[in-house]
Amino acid sequence: MYDRVKISTGLLVVVLLVLIPFFYNNDASKAAPELTMPTNAKACVLPRAEMRAKHMQLLNTWRDEVVRKGDSRPVLVDGKEYPKSLQLNCMECHTSKVNFCDKCHNYSSVRPYCWDCHLAPVE
Ligand code: HEC
Ligand code: HEC
Ligand code: HEC
Repeated sequence: MYDRVKISTGLLVVVLLVLIPFFYNNDASKAAPELTMPTNAKACVLPRAEMRAKHMQLLNTWRDEVVRKGDSRPVLVDGKEYPKSLQLNCMECHTSKVNFCDKCHNYSSVRPYCWDCHLAPVE
């Protein structure tokens, strides 16, 4: 007969080893950051999930349109006009760069260089 006790013990050890990273991932310091959301608006330029995933492309497209193609016409979303701009658009609602953009970027280890030139809101 096979040595059932030894095999079961071996399997249990393997399962526990495999699970270790998951226990470590539960570390509270890894929790998603608490972001300060705008109080002056209920909606973003695009739906929330889309903004999360695509705000960088959106900003790049706008910049190219304004700077390279000279097209600075505002974008129309739900009948409301938004300027194609970082300062005059995003930061009008997301007034805290520190507690919104930076918090999330630090968490994801991204460092947008936009602020080398563009002004951030005074906080
Ligand atoms: C008119 C005000 C307004 C403008 C302008 C605006 N936002 Fe938002 N943004 C919001 C609101 C309100 C939410 C939360 C939306 C919700 O709860 O559905 C949000 C959500 C987001 C989110 C998702 C955050 C999360 O944790 O889910 C990102 C990212 C974001 N905005 C980035 C930007 C960027 C980048 C710009 C400029 C291109 C911008 N926003 C312009 C009001 C605005
Ligand atoms: C919910 C988290 C989150 C929030 C909030 C957020 N960002 Fe980001 N942002 C990211 C992530 C993640 C990336 C990197 C995405 C990638 O590389 O594909 C990124 C990338 C960018 C980039 C491109 C950087 C590069 O070097 O390519 C820009 C520009 C940017 N964000 C602007 C903003 C601005 C402005 C705000 C605040 C109004 C903001 N983001 C808020 C998560 C966020
Ligand atoms: C080296 C300096 C510099 C850097 C870095 C920079 N920009 Fe700009 N950006 C400019 C200048 C100059 C203009 C033209 C301003 C104008 O025509 O009013 C501009 C215009 C823009 C515009 C359109 C018009 C406006 O007033 O906002 C957007 C959108 C924009 N930049 C986004 C970004 C984003 C996003 C980043 C980071 C990924 C970035 N820029 C990094 C210098 C810079």
